[in-house]
Amino acid sequence: MKLNIISGTDMPNSKALEVSEYIKALYEKEGVEVTITDLVDFPLQDVVGGKYGQSIPSVEKFREPVLEADALLIIIPEYNGSFPGILKIFIDYMPYPSAFVKTPIAYVGIAGGAFGGLRPVEQFQMVANYMDAHQFPERVFISRVQDMFHPIQGILDEFQQKLLESQTQGFIKYVNALKRG
Ligand SMILES: Cc1cc2nc3c(=O)[nH]c(=O)nc-3n(C[C@H](O)[C@H](O)[C@H](O)COP(=O)(O)O)c2cc1C
Repeated sequence: MKLNIISGTDMPNSKALEVSEYIKALYEKEGVEVTITDLVDFPLQDVVGGKYGQSIPSVEKFREPVLEADALLIIIPEYNGSFPGILKIFIDYMPYPSAFVKTPIAYVGIAGGAFGGLRPVEQFQMVANYMDAHQFPERVFISRVQDMFHPIQGILDEFQQKLLESQTQGFIKYVNALKRG
């Protein structure tokens, strides 16, 4: 199984990337091949002016690991009660309408506040639903992420950490079951 983890912000040195790297190691322990797509590297300068539907080599190269993966895990930080704008721009520069058709997607929400990214994840799920993705129902939310996530120890709340481990095991089974048809 090939998994691509999307770190869903263009914030430099983001918590989303820290969480992505931690989760990458969890999947690798289970023998999953993992790549990370960090939206901080999205070639924003090459799409200025609204170049939708055009062939842009830097965008095509950037989106390749996402399109080649069997499954996606998206780390979504909460910005103004929603998901970051760069994540929508990235989606709008994926092949339309085929990008996520029947693609298994799992989610981890993170936030500075108490709701752990529930709002941005649910809003993003409306988009992914429209795009005909297979959305894994077990989601993980990390509240007060600056204090509650450690790059080596993981989530400092024991219950949430167990949920993350359960999501990892469950998502692998889900993706394999879908592959078998
Ligand atoms: C533009 C912006 C808006 C934010 N809005 C919210 C918000 O609505 N609710 C919240 O709990 N945290 C909010 N935060 C805090 C982020 O959720 C928190 O800093 C983030 O999850 C850390 O991850 P990051 O480093 O990957 O951005 C906001 C941060 C930024 C930069």
